[in-house]
Amino acid sequence: MPTTRRSPYICHVLVCTNDRQGRRKSCADGNSAQVRAALKKEVGERGWRGKVRVSPSGCLGLCADGPNVLIYPQKIWFPGVSTADVPDIVARMAQIVDTA
Ligand code: FES
Repeated sequence: MPTTRRSPYICHVLVCTNDRQGRRKSCADGNSAQVRAALKKEVGERGWRGKVRVSPSGCLGLCADGPNVLIYPQKIWFPGVSTADVPDIVARMAQIVDTA
């Protein structure tokens, strides 16, 4: 039986960066790596390190609607994101941090 612990993060932001190299639609087609980098920068600038974790992920199974960003455990899904959406995603993250 594996040991379990409580997550140290208020939320975990998963940014799909899966890249199928054009063989099939994947989130990397929409510059999801840039979205991830921008979100990480915001987390650092807002002093959220240790509270909010932005991580790249493999395929989240929602490819047709990508690029995808999911926030857990709040179960928030941002489909079809671009770097232009980063301020709105960060605003939602701020709501989560402020109410934690
Ligand atoms: S490639 Fe991103 S959800 Fe599948």
